[in-house]
Amino acid sequence: MGTEAKISCNNVWKIFGPDPKTVLSSSDKDMSRAEVQEKTGHVIAVKDVSFSIQKGETFVVMGLSGSGKSTLVRCLSRLIEPTSGEILIDDTDIMNISANELTSLRRHRMSMVFQHFGLFPHRRVIDNIGYGLEIRGAPADERLNKSMEVLKLVGLDGWENNYPRELSGGMQQRVGLARALAVDPEILIFDEPFSALDPLIRREMQDELLSIQQLVKKTMVFITHDFLEAIKMGDHIAIMKDGEISQIGTPEEIVANPIDQYVRDFTEDVPKYRVLSAGKVLRPNVSTKTEELFKNKENCIHENTKIDQLIDLITETDDALPVTSSCGTELLGEIDRTIIMKAMRSKS
Ligand SMILES: Nc1ncnc2c1ncn2[C@@H]1O[C@H](COP(=O)(O)OP(=O)(O)OP(=O)(O)O)[C@@H](O)[C@H]1O
Ligand SMILES: [Mg+2]
Repeated sequence: MGTEAKISCNNVWKIFGPDPKTVLSSSDKDMSRAEVQEKTGHVIAVKDVSFSIQKGETFVVMGLSGSGKSTLVRCLSRLIEPTSGEILIDDTDIMNISANELTSLRRHRMSMVFQHFGLFPHRRVIDNIGYGLEIRGAPADERLNKSMEVLKLVGLDGWENNYPRELSGGMQQRVGLARALAVDPEILIFDEPFSALDPLIRREMQDELLSIQQLVKKTMVFITHDFLEAIKMGDHIAIMKDGEISQIGTPEEIVANPIDQYVRDFTEDVPKYRVLSAGKVLRPNVSTKTEELFKNKENCIHENTKIDQLIDLITETDDALPVTSSCGTELLGEIDRTIIMKAMRSKS
């Protein structure tokens, strides 16, 4: 993963209603969402949101229904016009670009995948996939080649001439994904893409998207209201409540340190040992025996190793084991059976 920001939002607001600017310039905007709605008839869908998304990462926006996820993410391409704020894509503030530049941005650099697939029923699979290339004016042979390539990538080889209604929900969403990938966008946006699918298909699609991401390494923005999906898919997660971001962090940071009760409620059912790493639960004071093991480079564990990967090792030894920095050169602490058992049991 690179360290350049691909997308940055700075103080973005979206207020729905007859006169959003007036609400924004008054002190009404500081009241709770419910109070603003009661007093002014406006809905503050996105409230002073700032974050950065690094190139090549999957950034998950998570929160309860109505928390503002779809509105926020639609602001990123100005499909919904923000009331105020700055939206930088590769350092260009897209609030200041022309209509033509905006169309070009949407056609060439961004794609969306929707919950209800949004396929054209009267077009064959291959023509659905090639749609973005078609409106871009790509020649027929280029369209066909590229569409066949992504059709194979999403595992739909052989279905190119079928119509969407002949496909299962999971397969239709593969078409949705292929259509988004066909234009080779820099940014892929997913609005609850798997929410309409049953659990097994959903897991299969998550795995598939993760492995496709390993290949294509796009910048992805992924909306979900399912926290387990968020921690599986996200490099970073932003948790939204009433239009604001409650917390942003890696899955591990959020599970280890939920900032408030709203976030804690989401983390409650997460199997901690699958998210937390040795570095998060270690005991910093080590015994001389652990120091010996470290010196002899025996049974050392890297700080980033997830706890569930340590269960076999820790079952086989009564000793504490050294935890090292990820390069292996520094002794950070030790971990033993008791710590692991506690982490497996713990609620956050
Ligand atoms: N066009 C609109 N006009 C007025 N209010 C709107 C409009 N679109 C969204 N809202 C309001 O903005 C708030 C945020 O909506 P949004 O659709 O972004 O939520 P969400 O987090 O995506 O929810 P869900 O999980 O149900 O999709 C909600 O209170 C919604 O009613
Ligand atoms: Mg939504």
